[in-house]
Amino acid sequence: MKLWPPLAVLCSLLAVDLVWAAHSFENTAIVRTVELGGSLVHVTTTYAIKSLEAGSSRYTIALGRDEHQKTSWLEVRLKGQQAALPFERHGTHLDNEVYLYDVTLPKALATNGTANIVVETVQTHATYPWPQEAAQSEDQALKYESDLFVLSPYETSVQRTKLRSSTPSILSFTQPEEVSFATENPATKSGTTVTYGPYYNIPASASSDFIAAHQQHVTVQYNHGFPVLEVTKLKRAAEVSHWGANLNIQDEIILHNAGPRLKGHFSRLQHQTQSYYNRPAPHVLSWATLLLPAGISNVYYYDLIGNVSTSRLRTAPSPPKGLSQAALNNHFSTLEIRPRYPLMGGWNYSFTLGWDAPLGDSAVWDAKTGKYILGVPVMTLIPGAVVDEAEVKIVLPEGASDIEFFAPFPALSNTLSTHISYLDTTGRPAVTFEYKDLTDKHTGTIYITYKVPFLAHLKKPIAVGMAFFALFSLAMGWRRVDTRIHTKQKL
Ligand SMILES: *[C@@H]1O[C@H](CO)[C@@H](O)[C@H](O)[C@H]1NC(C)=O
Ligand SMILES: *[C@@H]1O[C@H](CO)[C@@H](O)[C@H](O)[C@H]1NC(C)=O
Ligand SMILES: *[C@@H]1O[C@H](CO)[C@@H](O)[C@H](O)[C@H]1NC(C)=O
Repeated sequence: MKLWPPLAVLCSLLAVDLVWAAHSFENTAIVRTVELGGSLVHVTTTYAIKSLEAGSSRYTIALGRDEHQKTSWLEVRLKGQQAALPFERHGTHLDNEVYLYDVTLPKALATNGTANIVVETVQTHATYPWPQEAAQSEDQALKYESDLFVLSPYETSVQRTKLRSSTPSILSFTQPEEVSFATENPATKSGTTVTYGPYYNIPASASSDFIAAHQQHVTVQYNHGFPVLEVTKLKRAAEVSHWGANLNIQDEIILHNAGPRLKGHFSRLQHQTQSYYNRPAPHVLSWATLLLPAGISNVYYYDLIGNVSTSRLRTAPSPPKGLSQAALNNHFSTLEIRPRYPLMGGWNYSFTLGWDAPLGDSAVWDAKTGKYILGVPVMTLIPGAVVDEAEVKIVLPEGASDIEFFAPFPALSNTLSTHISYLDTTGRPAVTFEYKDLTDKHTGTIYITYKVPFLAHLKKPIAVGMAFFALFSLAMGWRRVDTRIHTKQKL
């Protein structure tokens, strides 16, 4: 289970009432669209629903076992609306084969009332290179596997699943046989899209009986023209200094090219020619773009060998105050990293990246509570990449107390510890968050509130002062000692 529901869900957990209401809806239509990608696959499923009784406000969605295992992000909305609907895991799961989530509709439907529910998910590690090896001149082909039927605890009049590739070649796809509920060709391909369905009059399908009798597995193989990137590990450390009015963030990143392994030798000449004609092999990675916050300075990027001077940075100025999260997401600096050598399929590349940012961009003091509120982004977005494991450590000023934190989505764990560094007297409190399988939807901000007593503010200057004083005294004493070497000593 690796599904991290958004914060809204947690808030809704209080209002649980687990009534199994399988007969209160029917699906007039289900359409699922899968955007075939690299390490992230975006899936949108629209359920056109009709209420069969008055006052139905909890609609249940179902995910098959494999689908559930791959799903790292899930969001539910009414079609055409911005606000996400709260959902929560349904109490019972059937033989670990079907996972159910209850969605609370904004208002109960009357009998024959209709609504369109849109469920957006992001799947991670859902594709794999096939063939597993590709020569430098060959395309990068991937496979994606899926279940044929979208499951639902309600009867469905008609359903379709479309799998769409961003590059215009679907190489092959499963032509399912003896499909129940199909009246025509069970699968068709048109351009970049393979469509399974329409399938008609499907009974309630969220059960192991249905799965055993009717469910099928289908596979699509397609060319993918972009690198398949994975961040196997992201270790972020953010340090606040009120004294220096600075927020320093450092990321240690292990990047993995999850594309096919290189068949034969690598030819730099061919690589340069391909790059020159703007047709680089997608499984030979020569650069990646990272989205960093706006308003940053002193950006550094080095790997095991040292500073990587071929990187390109474009910093955006600090964002104006009061921007919404969505606007902030579109306001960033970009760093284009170019590893020293092109990264072949299966290879890893470790590097460290850091920057300073004015504290005023991410912290405010709340006079009402007497606390600072600090926001630290969960991660550095590498578009298209999944982050397998992330550790985010936020180091607060010395003496910080009354610490509370709010993560945009629940972490696997969070721990409070003490971080002792140079010139600290008592050590600084640090909060560490751990995450798994972050996607491009997990671009939220962790908020921390804390108090820094006036004396604690002075601790650092005092410590620095003491250090200077000690040096000064030492120097004073030093001058009184005759340290000249007595070269003219008589033998
Ligand atoms: C709901 O629709 C059905 C079929 O169209 C109709 O027979 C029934 O009277 C409707 N019920 C209400 C309450 O409108
Ligand atoms: C590292 O390389 C960048 C070029 O990308 C250069 O601007 C920077 O000064 C270098 N830093 C050091 C410490 O050499
Ligand atoms: C890359 O790292 C993974 C583990 O994260 C390891 O299994 C794999 O062997 C590494 N690849 C290479 C080429 O070293």
